Amino acid sequence: MSFGSVGVVGVGTMGSGIVEVTARAGLPVVACEVSPEALEAARGRVEASMNRALKRGKLDEAELQATLARVAWTVDIDEVAGSDLVVEAVPEALETKLEVFGHLDRLLDRSAVMATNTSSIPIINVAMGMSRPEQVLGMHFFNPVPVMKLVELISTQRTDPAVTDQVTRFSADVLGKQVVTAPDRAGFVVNKLLLPYLCQAIEMYESGHAAAEDIDRAMVLGTGHPMGPLTLADLIGLDVCLMVAESLYAEYGERFYLPPSLLRRMVAAGRLGRKTGRGFYEY
Ligand SMILES: NC(=O)c1ccc[n+]([C@@H]2O[C@H](COP(=O)([O-])OP(=O)(O)OC[C@H]3O[C@@H](n4cnc5c(N)ncnc54)[C@H](O)[C@@H]3O)[C@@H](O)[C@H]2O)c1
Repeated sequence: MSFGSVGVVGVGTMGSGIVEVTARAGLPVVACEVSPEALEAARGRVEASMNRALKRGKLDEAELQATLARVAWTVDIDEVAGSDLVVEAVPEALETKLEVFGHLDRLLDRSAVMATNTSSIPIINVAMGMSRPEQVLGMHFFNPVPVMKLVELISTQRTDPAVTDQVTRFSADVLGKQVVTAPDRAGFVVNKLLLPYLCQAIEMYESGHAAAEDIDRAMVLGTGHPMGPLTLADLIGLDVCLMVAESLYAEYGERFYLPPSLLRRMVAAGRLGRKTGRGFYEY
């Protein structure tokens, strides 16, 4: 049985993409943010992204309007109550996620499924705070969500296999994503490999080994990556990179997961990359 309605809690960089792909797949979506200002910004992100898709001919004006009409915007988390699946995409901090999940646990029907889009927090640490850990799993989308095909699906030792099957089928058949099953270890598959690379690039830049543009151009031209590591870190968000590196270091204790000091300083300075207009580059 597939999901008939979806809630998204936290509609920032990732949540706005998740809202868009779900509504474009034809489902009603409740999009929940923390304040009216954040909600307006979220709505603006979804509309801007859909207008870009319109310009590229990926959908027509009627589809755009029908998609937007399927989204209900709210600052009241209680309005996600009727959703069959809720995807949480609030900032990467365990206490924030536990607070949101605790609320959802009290609010949702017993059959509802709760997914976290965490990049690195072990899913079991979120699930065990709930009265129904068998209904909790990780659904890790990639940025930008409407473009990137991958979803990593992470079940815990307590996730009901029927729930994993249901979410796998939903991700593939309804959202049109490619699913990779990943272990419930910090960083899953992609970030476990990606973060040492990003941290090394930041260290190379910090130590004067090479200029930012040269590091990025070298990796684009030399490996065929669509963008270099510093551009990618700016796109992901430097705060997200820092929190993911810290989770990886906490789990594996390997030096190459240790966040470079420049990354810490840039986050402390509010230079978070594209979303704040400045990171390694200006936007
Ligand atoms: N940025 C990426 O490339 C990326 C990729 C995959 C996964 N993730 C993960 O997705 C999650 C969100 O990351 P992001 O980059 O979208 O962060 P973000 O900072 O862009 O968005 C988080 C949003 O959550 C909102 N929020 C905070 N507390 C809330 C609450 N209690 N209720 C409702 N909304 C709340 C904030 O206002 C903000 O808009 C994190 O766990 C991150 O690790 C990020």
